[in-house]
Amino acid sequence: MPESTPQGHAGLKNRTKLVHAGRRPSEQLGFVNTPLYRGSTVLFPTLEDLYARNARFSYGTQGTPTTEALESAWTELSGAAGTVLTSTGLAAIALALLTAASSGDHVLVVDSAYRPSRIFCDTVLSRMGVAVTYYDPRLGASLESLIRPNTRVIFLESPGSQTFEVQDVPAITALARSKGICTILDNTWATPLFFPPHARGADMAVEAGTKYLSGHSDLLIGLVSATAEWFPKLRATFDAFAMCAGPEDVFLSLRGLRTLDLRLREAERQALSLAHWLSERKEVIDVLHPAFPSCPGHDLWKRDFLGSTGVFSVLLAPCSRAALGRMLDGLKLFAMGYSWGGYESLVIAFDCRSYRSATKWNPPGPALRFSVGLEDIEDLKADLDAGFARLRAAC
Ligand SMILES: Cc1ncc(COP(=O)(O)O)c(C=O)c1O
Repeated sequence: MPESTPQGHAGLKNRTKLVHAGRRPSEQLGFVNTPLYRGSTVLFPTLEDLYARNARFSYGTQGTPTTEALESAWTELSGAAGTVLTSTGLAAIALALLTAASSGDHVLVVDSAYRPSRIFCDTVLSRMGVAVTYYDPRLGASLESLIRPNTRVIFLESPGSQTFEVQDVPAITALARSKGICTILDNTWATPLFFPPHARGADMAVEAGTKYLSGHSDLLIGLVSATAEWFPKLRATFDAFAMCAGPEDVFLSLRGLRTLDLRLREAERQALSLAHWLSERKEVIDVLHPAFPSCPGHDLWKRDFLGSTGVFSVLLAPCSRAALGRMLDGLKLFAMGYSWGGYESLVIAFDCRSYRSATKWNPPGPALRFSVGLEDIEDLKADLDAGFARLRAAC
C-alpha cells in the first residue's frame, strides 16, 4: 500500500495534497480514513513511561490520531510549520492573539475585522492592559506611522468578510518583520487554497473551519497555523488553555477537507455569476467582490490571490427597512442566518456604522452579504428577481 508522508508530497499540487495529506491507512488497519478517536485518558505501560510521558499521545487535550491527521494536513496545505485546532474560529483568533500579546503591549487591528474579533480585543485584551488601535484596511507599508515602540501584533483580515477591502498583506508583513512585530491573518474567506498565508508573510494564520472547511453548516472549529518561529509559542499557549476542538468536529472537518478544492471552485463560479447579474440591476449601486474592479484593493486581489470564493456583498439604493423586509422575508431559496461557506445560499443585511472607528462606513442605502451555495444559479437569480420586484413595489 503506498503510504504518503508530508515530505513525499513536496512538489504536489494542493488538489492532490487535499486527497493524500493526513492519511496513514497502514496505521488504521488499511481503512482509507483516519477514524474518530474519542478519549481523555491514554495509558502508559510503565512508571518510567508515565513520568516521562513517553508516548505518541499522552492525554486527550493534547491530541489524538484524528486531530493529528487534520493538523498535519492543514500544516501542509498552509505551508506552515505546525497547526493547532480550537473549538471555534473565534477561539482560534483569541488563541493567536494571546500567544503574541502581553500586558503593556500595543496591537494594531484592521478596522474591517469580523466584529467579534474586535469585541475580544476591546474586552479581554483591554482588560489585560493591551492597547488596541484600529487601522484603515487600505493602509499598506504606510501603516508604519501607527507603529509604537511597544507594538507587538498586527492583526489582518483580508478581505474583510462583510465589506471586502483587500489588504496589502505582503507589504504589511514585510514591515512587521523588519520591526519584530508578529502578524496574525484571519484567512477564512480565501482559505490556504486561494491565499497561501505564510508564503505571503503571515506569522500566524487563522481559519474558521466552521465555514468552507466544514462546508455543511453542521460544526464549529478553528485552526491556527504558524511559522517555525511562532509555532512553539502557539503550541505552548494552546497547551496552557487546552481549548481543543471536539473529536466529531475534527473528523467531519477531515471529511470536508477532501472536497474543499471542488467546493471552493464551484462557490467561486456561482458567486461570480450572481455578482455579475446583481451588478446589472438598477436596485444595486455597488458590488463588493474582490474580483470586481469597484472593490477596494481589487488590484491586490489580482496580484496576491489564486481565486475568489462564494461570499460577497452589495450596496442597495436607498429604501425603507420595511421594503427591505418585504424583499428578504419572502425569499424562498436564500435563507437569512449568520455564518457562511455551507452548501446552502444565505443572505444577511448588515450595517457597520456603529463600530467602525478608523474608517467611515456610510453607504446611502442598505448593504447585503451573500454566501452563494450549490443550488442551480438560475433558481437563485429567479428568487432574487422576485425579491427585487417586492422591494420595488414596497418603495
Ligand atoms: C472572518 C471570520 N473569522 C472568524 C469567524 C469565527 O468563526 P466561528 O463562528 O467558528 O467562531 C467568522 C464567523 O463568522 C468569520 O466570518
